This record gives sequence, C-alpha cells and structure tokens, in this order.
Amino acid sequence: MARARKQQAAKKARAARGEERLAALSAEKRSFKPPAEFRRQANCRDPKVYRRAARHPEKFWAGWARQLEWSKPSRKVLEWKAPDARWFVGGKLNASVNCLDRHVRTARRNKAALIWEGEPGDRRTYTYWDLYREVNRFANVLKRLHVRKGDRVAIYLPMIPEAAIAMLACARIGAIHSVVFGGFSAEALRDRINDAQAKVLITADGGYRRGAVLPLKQWADEALQRAPSIEKVVIVKRGGQDFPVHIKEGRDHWWHRLMQDAPAWCEPAAMDSEDILYTLYTSGTTGKPKGVVHTTAGYLVGVLATTRWVFDLKDEDVFWCTADIGWVTGHSYSVYGPLACGATTLMYEGAPDWPARDRFWELCERHGVTVFYTAPTAIRAFMKWGAEHIRRHDLSRLRLIGTVGEPINPEVWVWYHRTVGGGRCPVVDTWWQTETGHILITPLPGLTALRPGSATLPFPGISAEVVDGFGEPVKKGGGYLVLTRPWPGMLRGIWGDPARYRKQYWARFPGIYFTGDGAKRGPDGYFWLLGRVDDVLNVGGHRIGTAEVESALVHHPAVAEAAVVGVPHELKGEAIAAFVTLKDGARPYGHLGEDLKEHVVKRIGAIARPERVILAADLPKTRSGKIMRRLLRDVATGRALGDVSTLADPSVLEALKARYAEDPSA
Ligand code: WTA
Repeated sequence: MARARKQQAAKKARAARGEERLAALSAEKRSFKPPAEFRRQANCRDPKVYRRAARHPEKFWAGWARQLEWSKPSRKVLEWKAPDARWFVGGKLNASVNCLDRHVRTARRNKAALIWEGEPGDRRTYTYWDLYREVNRFANVLKRLHVRKGDRVAIYLPMIPEAAIAMLACARIGAIHSVVFGGFSAEALRDRINDAQAKVLITADGGYRRGAVLPLKQWADEALQRAPSIEKVVIVKRGGQDFPVHIKEGRDHWWHRLMQDAPAWCEPAAMDSEDILYTLYTSGTTGKPKGVVHTTAGYLVGVLATTRWVFDLKDEDVFWCTADIGWVTGHSYSVYGPLACGATTLMYEGAPDWPARDRFWELCERHGVTVFYTAPTAIRAFMKWGAEHIRRHDLSRLRLIGTVGEPINPEVWVWYHRTVGGGRCPVVDTWWQTETGHILITPLPGLTALRPGSATLPFPGISAEVVDGFGEPVKKGGGYLVLTRPWPGMLRGIWGDPARYRKQYWARFPGIYFTGDGAKRGPDGYFWLLGRVDDVLNVGGHRIGTAEVESALVHHPAVAEAAVVGVPHELKGEAIAAFVTLKDGARPYGHLGEDLKEHVVKRIGAIARPERVILAADLPKTRSGKIMRRLLRDVATGRALGDVSTLADPSVLEALKARYAEDPSA
C-alpha cells in the first residue's frame, strides 16, 4: 500500500515537474499586454515617445531637465567627445534642493517622504518637512566638522534613515559621498576610504541582521587603523545598550549630540551640472574595486525620468525598493529617484526572513506598498519558501512590481507575476549598472508588451545594440551589449584612474560604451540579457570580481595560486568555486578549506564567501603559464571538457576532476 502511494506521489511529482518545464518553455514565448486599467492611468502611455526621443534625444532629455529646479539653467544639453560627456553644460543646481526644498514649498510638505522600519520592528516616518530639517541640520554638522565642497565623506551605515539623511546632507554642501555597503569587511572599507581619501566617516554602533548585531563601529575602528585621511567619525546610535563601542576622543562624535544644536537651515551649494555628486565602488575585472563617478545634473535627470516612467510613480504611491543603500539601486531608487519625484519611499533595515518568511509581505501590507522593486535572487528564495507566506497577506494595493540585478528566468518571472503581482501587476525587468546610474533597458509598464525573461527595450532616448567582436550589429544569436550614444546618468570616470575608465569601457569598441554583458535580440527587437562576458561574477545580484576573490585568497600565507570561477546556484544564480594551490611547505589540514573561506569573508565580506574551495596540486595552464579558467568552469559544473589542446600538462585536469568529485563538500 505504502509503496503504491509512494509511486503515485512520485508520478505526480514527475508530472508537476514536466508541467513546470513546459510552462517555462512557453513562458519565454508568452506576451503580457499592459492591462487596460493600468494603461489608462500610466504616466507614459504615448507610444510615439520612442520615435520622438530617438530623433531628438537631447530635446527629450532637456524636457526632463526642465522639471528640475535650477539656480542657473543650462544653455546647452550635451557636449560629447567620446568618452567624455558633459550634460546640461553651465547649469547650476543642488540635488538636495531638488529632492526636498522643491517639495516643502508645496502641499507635499507634510507628506511622508521616508517610511522606515527596523528589523526589530521599530518604526519612524519622516515627512518631507522632517527630512528637509534633518538634512539641513546634518549639513551644518558636516560643515562644522570642516567638510567642504569636493571633500569625500564615507558612509558605512545599516539601512536606517540617517543613511539617506547623510547622503542628502553631503549633496547639500557639495561634498562627495561614498557609501560603503554595511556588509563589507573592515579591509574592504579601508581600501575604499583610502582610494577616495575620505575626510569624514559616518557609521553606527551597529545594525540588525537576522536578529544578530553587525558591529559596524568595531569594523570601522579596524579599518581606521590604516586610513589616515579620516579626521572625524560620526556615530549613529542604533542599538544603544546592545552595542558597546569604543570612542576615540577628539576623533569620534555621536550623531545625536552633534545634531542637538545644529541650525535647521543650511544654504545649499550651487553645484555645477558636472560637479561630482557621489562615487560608488564596484567590482571590475581587476583585484581593485573602482570608484564610479557620478555628477549632479545628468544623474538627477536620469533617475527622475526613469522613476516617473518605469515605476509610474504618482503622489499616492508607496514605493519600496528593497536594495541596500550601499548599492547603486539604493542610491537611485530608494533615495534620489523617488525623492526627486516627491514620492513616498519605504526603507527596511533587515532580512526578508526575519523573524519569519513573510516579513516582506507583512511590510507591504502594513505600509500599503503600491510599487515593489527587488532582485531575482530574492524572488527565487520567496518561490522556494512557498506561496503561503504571500497569500497570508493582503497585497491588493500592489499595482506594479519590478526586478533588477541579474537575468530573471522566465518561470521565476511568471511566478512573480502570478503570486506576488496577483496576475494584475505589470513586471518591469530593468537592466542597468552602477556605471549607467539609472535604468536603461526596461519596459514602460503602460506601453510595453512584456515577455518573461526579457528586459524588453531601451528606455526612450537610449541607444543600445548587440554587436559581434568587430562591433558589427548581430541580428541573430548572442553578442556583446553596447551603448552607442551617451546618456545623462552615465559615469564620468573612475575616481583617480582616467586610464582605467578608457580601457575598461571605451577601448573594446572605440567611441562606444562596452557594458561587459552578453545579450541577444528577439525577432521583435527585444533584448534578452545573457549575463557577464568578463571576469565578473553575479552572486545573488552582487557584482564580485573573480580577481578580487583570487587576490584575497592569495593573501593567505598558505596559498600559492588561486583561480575562481562561477558555478550555477539554485538561489544565488551563481556561486563561487575557488581552486587553490598551496605554497611549498604549506600542509593541508582538515579545515583549511573553511579557513580559506573565512579569510575571503574577512578581506571582502560575507557576500564573497566561496561556496567551495578545492585544494589542487596544480592548476590547468597554457604553455605560456596562463590559468585556463574555462576548463576549471567545466570541471566545476561537471561539463564535458572543452578544447584542451593548448594545455601545458593535460594530466593536471584529470587530477582536478578526481579531486572535485571526491570532496564535494569542501
Ligand atoms: C546585471 C545593478 C540581466 C548585469 C543595477 C549588469 C542584469 C550588472 C539586470 C550590474 C537585468 C542588472 N537583467 N542582468 N535586469 N540588471 N544586471 O553594477 O550583468 O550592481 O552588468 O548594478 O548586473 O550590476 P550593478
């Protein structure tokens, strides 16, 4: 009996799997038109915008620029001499004025600008007026700490309102903020501070994550041991009693003390359109992260336009972009974009499964979230946890949902659309990068017919192509994704390294921006992103350079060589497999693999922890000594080995394969 039942169950499971596969197969081919009621109310519902913007892109962007407040309007939209762009030449404006002052003069003054919830459940709501006052006060604090226009301020905070306040306060006085994700280690923080030569660090005693405390100040203290540019540290008291901190007299100051007598008005600095608003470090193909530089006017125009049209934000909306403020998505769509629009933005400190797996949906229900933006890696986790966590909550206010960070599998898209979006919310799959500043390839939810797994079409005014190795457009099959015209939010350089800027983005195809992504076009012209084509991994939507992880490993005293590859992972999309050889005389021991993983966490942060470390006697190399990562990828994914003819010593691979199979848990 039991056996028969088991067989029956197995049959059912097989059938379900088959159905899922079928659904996935057809998902790619399915097309979802914008629901009529969405279309009727959409901010952008005129299909002619694409043609108009393509004909006169500068005029198109100038139209958006006019919606901002300028202390001196610009007379020229663009000066372009590849790879150097200047947008809105000669104009003067201030980002904090555009995000705050502009709104406090209207009926939005008492509207919620920022709704925040901490992981333990504590809540704060800032109206535009509140936020305006806090930003002005903190701008005065920064001034008192001798921060001047052009100085760099490092921000290393949990997801708390002070992060947004600090960013906007920097913008108010023309200081350049450099936000460092709170999950980065002390060493990663130190590298970023030193590269930017930051003068002030803003941090907290700690932050909450899955019920535990992240001791940010402790990590910051470690970082500051060798970061001599930092003169002052401002500490937000997040945890109080729970988080004891060491205070270095003269250097360290509590945020709340400094704010006590800070005046609530601070004259905003008149910034040139091309003055730097911020730098943000991201991973590239070398071991050293690069400080991507964004300037003021073009960036604001880009985030304003995309927030209005892609997220369709209205005054009634509550927008929740779940990204941490340490990433560009948090900069553009938790802070600058929604506030420039005068919208309400929601910020949450903690993990999606704390204290339970329905935390996000509880938040959506309680705060009446209408537009929700997250990453495929999160959606895959929600899918795995099961729909019951979602069904328990009333999500009927949701009207639009989005994703960013990596390609989304069609079946995950369909699940997201159906289960989170109730089948009624358009899904905007948005492609962009830290370097692009704002969304570039995306549906417009009131216009575009959606195809699960495709980011669809370039935003109006954006020119993208898929090209082959010679820069020729590819009609069929995959190629390199490039951007053929400048766009307002584009990066203006890499902090302190103009040569790298040219080499990284503009050398492969002269005069054309190379994204580092592969893509293909559908018969309808739609773009399908295929992932990175360079040595950059995408682990749970986080960009990690293989070279960074390798240099962290080689830094360990026992390691001679390291080669890192990405392997498919059910939830993270991609996980890190590291092949390591030891120095002569270094002896492997039982938990060396674990120690090496910890070493990477210490050097970079938990997001870069390798899933597997394989200790090898030798690595496959060409006769000229280049490590053949391609073959390592084949070993790690169990694929048939590719062309091995250039290999110096073919026996190395056999040994590696045996090693890999023998110890799958290492
Ligand atoms: C990937 C995040 C497919 C891509 C805003 C890109 C995507 C990198 C998508 C940038 C998407 C981002 N579909 N791939 N919708 N969005 N990517 O700098 O590989 O953290 O180059 O910026 O993420 O990551 P970054």
